[in-house]
Amino acid sequence: MAFINDSELNDIKNSINIVEIINKYIPLTEKGKNYFGVCPFHDDHSPSMSVSKDKQIYKCFSCGASGNVFTFLQNYHNITFQEAVYMAADFAGIKLSGSFKKEPSHFSKEYELMNLSNMYFENLINSSIGVKAIEYLKERGFSKETIKEFKIGVAPDEPNGFLNLLKSKQLDINMALKIGLINQGDNGYYDTFTKRIMIPINDEHGQVVGYSGRIYKTENQNRYMNSKENYIFKKGNILFNYDKALPYIKKNKEVIIVEGNLDAVRLYDAGIKNVIALMGTALTDYQINLLKKLKCKIILMLDNDEAGLLATYNNGKLLFDQNLSVGVVRLSDYKDPDLYLLHNGIDKLNNLIDNNLNYIDFEMHYLKQNLNLNKTEELRDYVKKVMNSLINSNDQILIDITLNKLSEEYKIDKELLKNEFEALNKKEKVNVEPVQIIKSNKSKYDNLVINILYYMMNDYKYVKGFKNKLGYIKTKIYRDISNDIMSYADINKTINLSDFLTYINLNNYNVNEINEIINVCKYTDFDDTFFDNCINQINKEVINEEIKELKVKLKNELDENKKLEILEKITDLKRGSV
Ligand code: CTP
Ligand code: MN
Repeated sequence: MAFINDSELNDIKNSINIVEIINKYIPLTEKGKNYFGVCPFHDDHSPSMSVSKDKQIYKCFSCGASGNVFTFLQNYHNITFQEAVYMAADFAGIKLSGSFKKEPSHFSKEYELMNLSNMYFENLINSSIGVKAIEYLKERGFSKETIKEFKIGVAPDEPNGFLNLLKSKQLDINMALKIGLINQGDNGYYDTFTKRIMIPINDEHGQVVGYSGRIYKTENQNRYMNSKENYIFKKGNILFNYDKALPYIKKNKEVIIVEGNLDAVRLYDAGIKNVIALMGTALTDYQINLLKKLKCKIILMLDNDEAGLLATYNNGKLLFDQNLSVGVVRLSDYKDPDLYLLHNGIDKLNNLIDNNLNYIDFEMHYLKQNLNLNKTEELRDYVKKVMNSLINSNDQILIDITLNKLSEEYKIDKELLKNEFEALNKKEKVNVEPVQIIKSNKSKYDNLVINILYYMMNDYKYVKGFKNKLGYIKTKIYRDISNDIMSYADINKTINLSDFLTYINLNNYNVNEINEIINVCKYTDFDDTFFDNCINQINKEVINEEIKELKVKLKNELDENKKLEILEKITDLKRGSV
């Protein structure tokens, strides 16, 4: 296809080994012909993902995720196929020619401007202009490596440095204005950011879309100046550091959420890399979905002030209502994780994180603070509030423990609480999105076809066998797939599953159906007799269905001669089918 050069793609595929790549993300152990690891695509507790070195594919026997090395990178990092190929090339140490570009984005011009501004700020922090900014960051404990990894820069004192750069390069100043890099006043354009340390804010794919600018010299201006919302910078769609934290979140099966960007950078620097920061607002649906996709425990470690506690209560509730496992870290006497780390060190902070409170325990504690539970009415409302919070939970043990706690602490009859909870539960239960389950309601015909297709994807001889013995599939989607297999095999005179998956990805195929095919079959050796049996049974099924249709026709036919004709056809078919 347009963006990919086939020979380069082959070079990449031939220089990498899926086992090595997946092993970078999840530890794999060798067992017989295959390797096994804990599947990163669902909440896996036993190693259910199998990786085949021979076939260069992976497959999870529990959730059904499957594919080749590109699909793995694509799904793991939530990136496009083109980006996955790019990443794989990086692993392989292959430099790609000009023809091999990332998929052009809708906002590619905007992103180019953002990247240019980031380079501009970064170059400045590494020049004599950045000495004070670097000093400030070092004092706060940020290492050189972290400053580099986060592409932190500085906006100079000079008022129009970036504007002049745009002018000298004859770039689109109006676009820079729209995405907030430039402002417009009575005297014309000027740089939005000056005299600030510039912390880039990336979207989930790692593209810089905005900035958080912090003062570092005089403290008499606003501490922070952030990019204003615009069409490429939507705070509600971003979680700070999601892009960098993702592999670590998957590895640890835990994500830590802090309030300040610099808290996140500090923790990352200190080795807690599965950390992200809120964008100053309550979690949006978009962000909650990003978090849900992680399929891991969520630990809230927000600021230890009134605003932070309220945000913990509100955001924790949103997440807990989605049936996510939510923990809360209390920072005792320190305002934020950054300060806690500064005074107590990483081991103590890690310890604190390990001892996080269950969200419900936090909530019970939090709600109590402003209540006088000696007052009957306040106690009643409190108990009801806690029960309400448990309504969407599927965690029966947690529910039971909490009801017990309420019963014991406030001397309320346990049975009564249970009955009240049941009643509330029936009345209020909000529909929580059901987990997708792989359906298997296929017809016998389709099931047979799936086996045939799997054989065809793995060996050219079965493609030829299909052409000679069957050639046509009734079900449209499988017919399309068989056509793709045949055209791939005709061009290449060979086929294997891993390469074929790359090919259909290139054509932007919907790979769900393909996954289903990979998943009905086990890693068995291929058996010609089995293949032929499938073909025979398919032919029989075709005949059986034809007979069924003819029988319906027969019933409705009035003309005696035509009836006889149909009967004859049925007899012929029956003779052929046995
Ligand atoms: N914030 C802001 N404007 C402010 C204060 C805060 O935009 N005047 C935003 C910043 O994005 C900041 C987040 O709110 O990261 C959390 O605020 P706070 O915890 O006060 O900031 P810290 O991350 O602790 O910043 P620092 O340690 O640099 O003071
Ligand atoms: Mn702070």
